[in-house]
Order: sequence, then structure tokens, then C-alpha cells
Amino acid sequence: MITKVLQLNHVREGMKVAKSIYGPHGEILLAAGVSLNSFYIKRLEEMEVAAIYIEDEATEGIVINDVISEKTRIEAIKLTKECMNNIKLQSSVDVAKVNQVITDIVDELLSNNNIIVQVLEIRALNDHTFSHSVNVAVLSVITGIALGFDYKKLKDLALGALFHDIGKTLMPESILFKTEPLTQKEEEIWKKHPLLGFDILRKLPTINLTNAHIALEHHERYDGKGFPRGLSGNVISELARVVTVCNQYDKMTTYQIGQPRMKPFQAIEVLIGNSGKFFDADIVRAFLGIIAIFPIGSKVTLNIGVKGIVIEAYKNYPTRPKVRVLTDKNGEKIFPPYDIDLTDMPEICIIKVEEEG
Ligand SMILES: [Fe+2]
Repeated sequence: MITKVLQLNHVREGMKVAKSIYGPHGEILLAAGVSLNSFYIKRLEEMEVAAIYIEDEATEGIVINDVISEKTRIEAIKLTKECMNNIKLQSSVDVAKVNQVITDIVDELLSNNNIIVQVLEIRALNDHTFSHSVNVAVLSVITGIALGFDYKKLKDLALGALFHDIGKTLMPESILFKTEPLTQKEEEIWKKHPLLGFDILRKLPTINLTNAHIALEHHERYDGKGFPRGLSGNVISELARVVTVCNQYDKMTTYQIGQPRMKPFQAIEVLIGNSGKFFDADIVRAFLGIIAIFPIGSKVTLNIGVKGIVIEAYKNYPTRPKVRVLTDKNGEKIFPPYDIDLTDMPEICIIKVEEEG
């Protein structure tokens, strides 16, 4: 199987889907292996799918594995949606089910001790809030593992991360889905979602104050310039400081209609540049060790003039992946291609990442 991520406006008839695409209820919209035709492309546009994985001969044989199982991810997305809808309708939340999903996420991530996050999963935009929440939970737990958190703390982190934006269920949709900039008044309303989230969570059975504080403090800044309370430094709960980093990273690297997605190395620059301001520098440092700066499938140019594709990324060596060289210095195709492992070649480095499509 391959793995090339292509934005939908670059997708053409005849291309083959490499990874199944799921809809808001976890149902398959388009299965892996299907050849795209105009009907399918139109359907993807209608579902506001911004990008898909397609098969590509240059990356044949490379597989990108998700860090949690597809089953757990779909379950978690469905459950987040169900909980948010129930809260909106003021009905009860199935806490046992929530606990099961949280346990599955933490257990699966703990059982894999060499996790490095590649390109995050592709999602239909109308499902964005829920899959974003699951992504933030997954990224937070992996960061928590890197920081040496114990099992209980990881489960608290997962739960708080999954529901960090739950206060948005009580916000008017006209504000949540507004595409133009918010007016000052609307922004004031929007800024209430951490407090609303805190109120919702602390009233739920078996959800403790630690979890609720993640929702309350996920927009606080390390330098004290955040909201709602303007807390600073370590006064902000440690779990909320983790979720803040993961939330911002996921937002920056997600496809959004009409807005280019940042590449991991660009989003990481933003995180590093804001260490000690927006973010806790120690947490950013831990986060950098678990993210592939050049994810598998990235088209790169090396300082020796050749071009290739990243085929493997290593934990804790984010700038030194393995690269399959496809063209020589003059841009001529090399056959057969050969691989350079940058961890073995300190003098060689990546100097450019090509745009997709
Ligand atoms: Fe938020």
C-alpha cells in the first residue's frame, strides 16, 4: 500500500484510494483500493473531505500505521459525538463507555513503546470537532508517556483532552461555524467555552476536578496572557499545559477548507518559537520527541542535491529520517532507487520539503 496525501483539489479520476475514508458515524465513505471517478470525487467534495491518501508508485511498499487501532479511533469519535449531543440535550452521559474508550486509548499507546506520530488521520470536515478531540487525546497521552506520567495520570489526561472543548456544545452555532473573523462581542462569548466546559464536567459523575481543570485551562498561556483566568507558569495544571500544546499542534496541522494546512516542521517552529510564552518549554521539548517533523511520504531535497521521499522516521531523531532517493542532482530518475538513513550520515540533511499535489 502507499501513502501519499493529496489535497482534494489535486485529486483526479483514475487515482486509487490508499486508505479508507470514514464519515461522521464511523461508516466507510470510500474504501481503500477504489479507483476514483467523477461521482466519487463529487461525493468527497460534498462531504467536505479536504484531503485523501492515494496510491503512488514512488512510495510503493511504505505503510503508515496509525498509533491507535482504527476500531478504537472510530469508537472514540462516535462516543465524543454522542456525549456532546447528550450534553446539548441535557441528557446523561454513558460514563462507563467513556471510561472504556479512555482505557483502550491509553492501553494501546502504552503497549507500543516506539510511537512516533506521522501525518494525522484524514477526516471529513463536518466531523471535525469530534476527530480533533480524539487527536488531541491521543497526542496528549503520547506526550504524557514521554513525560513519564503514571497510568492514572494518563487516563485523567486522556479524559480531559477528549472533552477539552466540551463547553462549545453550549455555544451558538453561528459563532462556532462562522468563517469570517468574530466580532468583539462574539469573541467574548467564544472565550467562555473553557468555563462552560468546566461547569459541565464537574457535574458529571466519576469525572474529577483534575479532568474538569483541563477544560478550564486549555486556553491559558504560560506567560499569563491567556484566558479565562490569566494563570501563568506552573499554576496552570500540568495536564492542561500538555493539552494546550497538543490542541494547538493539531489545529495548525489539520486540513481546513480554504486554509492551507501547516506542515509538521512549520507547526513545530511555531511551538518552539512560542516556548515559554504560549507553551511550557519542557512540554514542547517532550512533544518534539514524539512527532515526525518529516512524516513518511514527505517529498524532500537533500543538501547533496538529490530528491527523494521519507520512508521511515525515528523517535527522538525527528530531523534524521530514512530517505528513498528517487532523482539525482540533475533531476534524472534513479533506477533502482536507493535509501539514505540520515541517522548514519551526519553530513547529509534535508534542506527543502515540497508542497503536496
Ligand atoms: Fe478550546
